[in-house]
Amino acid sequence: MKLPRQFYSPLAIGAPSPWRELPVKLERMIHFVPPQLEKLRAKVPDLVRQVDVVLGNLEDAIPIDAKEAARRGFIEMAKAVDYGATGLWTRINALNSPWALDDVTEIVGAVGGKLDVIMLPKVDGPWDIHYLDQLLAQLEAKHAVKKPILIHAILETAQGVNNVEAIASASPRMHGMSLGPADLAASRAMKTTRVGGGHPDYAVLADAAGSAERGKFQQDLWHYTTAKMVDACAAAGIKPFYGPFGDFSDPAACEAQFRNAFLMGCAGAWSLHPSQIEIAKKIFSPDPAEVAFAQKILAAMPDGAGAVMIDGKMQDDATWKQAKVVVDLAKLVAAKDPASAARYGL
Ligand code: GLV
Ligand code: MG
Repeated sequence: MKLPRQFYSPLAIGAPSPWRELPVKLERMIHFVPPQLEKLRAKVPDLVRQVDVVLGNLEDAIPIDAKEAARRGFIEMAKAVDYGATGLWTRINALNSPWALDDVTEIVGAVGGKLDVIMLPKVDGPWDIHYLDQLLAQLEAKHAVKKPILIHAILETAQGVNNVEAIASASPRMHGMSLGPADLAASRAMKTTRVGGGHPDYAVLADAAGSAERGKFQQDLWHYTTAKMVDACAAAGIKPFYGPFGDFSDPAACEAQFRNAFLMGCAGAWSLHPSQIEIAKKIFSPDPAEVAFAQKILAAMPDGAGAVMIDGKMQDDATWKQAKVVVDLAKLVAAKDPASAARYGL
C-alpha cells in the first residue's frame, strides 16, 4: 500500500507536484476532433469559442493508416491555437496498442505544457493508471512541464467496471471518468449494435393482471453502470461523464441520455457531431427555473442549517447542499456565457 504521505509526492525528480484540488472547470461537452483531417483542424479556432473542451482523438474511429498523421495533426493543432479557458485534451490509443507509447512521449515532448488531460481508453484496473502516472511524471520532468497533466479514464470494459473504485482513487492525477457504452457492450457480450442510448427490447411489461392492453416501458441500459461510476467518482472527488451517443439522427434520444446522466451527477458528455454541442450545452447547464428555486433556498437558509418551507416544500441542510451544487454550476456557466448570466439573473 502506498503511504498517505507519499500520495502527493511527484513520481519523478523534477516533475510538478500533483494537484491537491482539481482545477474548477466547466466541462459540459468534450468535443471530439479527428486531428489527421486538415479541414477539421482549420475549424479548431472557431470551435474553441463554442465548446468547453476540445479533444484530439487518436484511438478508435481513426483508421490504422492515419494513426501517425492524427498524432502529428494533434501536435500541430495544439501548437497553432490559443485555447484560453477551453480545455485541450487528447484520447491516446490503448496501452496494449503499438501506438500508445509514442502517443504519450511525442505529445508530452512537443506540447506537454498546453495539454490539460489525457483520456485513457480501455482501463481495466488501477495498474493502467499507475503506469501512465509514472510515465507522465518522467516526461514532465524531462520536458520541464510545469502543470501536471491529468488522466481521464474511459470505463468501457467489464473488468474496469469491477475495479471502478480503485481506478477512481488510483492517483491524484485522476481527473474523472467517462462511460464508454460501445466498448462496454462488446466487453460484456451485450446483444446490441449501438453506440450508447437505449434499446427498445430492454423493457418491462405492465402487470398481466391489469388491463388487456399491457403497457411496455423501456428501461435505461446504462443506469447501473452510470450510478456505479458516479458513486466511485464522487467518493474520490473526481468527475463522472457520459460518453458517446452515436445516433446523430436522433437528437431527442441523445438529449434524454444526456439528461439522465446530468440528473444523476455527471458533469458532461462527449460531442461527436457539431449538433451535439448545443444539446450538451443545454442539458449540462442548469435550468433557469431550478437555479431560481435553488437561490431561494440559499437565501432562506443563510447558514445552511435548520428547516424552512418554500412553496410548500420542506428544505433542510441536504436540500441546501443540492441548491449550492446547482447555483455553483450556474455561476460557472454564467462566467463563460453572458446570455446565460442574464437568464440566471447572475
Ligand atoms: C467509447 O469509447 C465507447 O466505446 O463507447
Ligand atoms: Mg471505446
